[in-house]
Amino acid sequence: TTITPLIAGNWKMNGVRASLDELTALAGILTTGDAPRAIVVVCPPATILAAVARQGATSGILAGGQDCHPAAHGAYTGDIAAGMLADAGAQYVIVGHSERRAAHGETDDLVRSKAEAAIGAGLKPIICVGETEAERDSGRAESVVAAQLAGSIPDAAGQHDVIIAYEPVWAIGTGRTPSNDDIAQMHNSIRRQLVDRFGDKGQGIHILYGGSLKPQNAREILALDNVNGGLVGGASLLAKDFATIISAV
Ligand code: G3H
Repeated sequence: TTITPLIAGNWKMNGVRASLDELTALAGILTTGDAPRAIVVVCPPATILAAVARQGATSGILAGGQDCHPAAHGAYTGDIAAGMLADAGAQYVIVGHSERRAAHGETDDLVRSKAEAAIGAGLKPIICVGETEAERDSGRAESVVAAQLAGSIPDAAGQHDVIIAYEPVWAIGTGRTPSNDDIAQMHNSIRRQLVDRFGDKGQGIHILYGGSLKPQNAREILALDNVNGGLVGGASLLAKDFATIISAV
């Protein structure tokens, strides 16, 4: 199975105006050079999602949300439904990012409901999993991730597109990454689990790596077995760095 690599930028809660200028710069880089080999997705803060989707329409950059609510609508102050993201032009949505699992107490059950809502709204959920440093140090990284996958991926992934992002919590924003061997081992283990559960469909599911992905390490990490792209935080905020990572696939 050949999987077209996917590089997604997660802007988190960062610099809205400056970021839109960076998006213009990114569009310039992507449309002047060779066509990118990767699918390029930018997940900005929700307040500029529609602007990003509009701008991306002319440069091939796709837009994604950073989170969604499991319900289609209702009395949920401050939340955003998947359908609203789709309406604003999103094609993807991140669910279960470790920052939300940690700071908002999101469980696998909730993450799975969000992924189901995303699929129902026609979005492709980017379902995040990853172990903490203590879990890795105690040799439990693979079992923790396996449990998160089992609980967070909806059965609908057998018929609809989902994306998995493996992000070791201790590698996010720290400048530290697992060894290439450790990344490959985890991605192979995730692939086995996807194939066990979804058969042939599981062979084609993107497994992204995330956590301190930078221009300096992107080429070797993105070349690893079963690494089908990346979820980039900090380095996605600068057009030049993000473009370098995109061109590293
Ligand atoms: O969603 C992105 C990740 O949390 C990675 O963030 O590239 O800043 O380490 P980072």
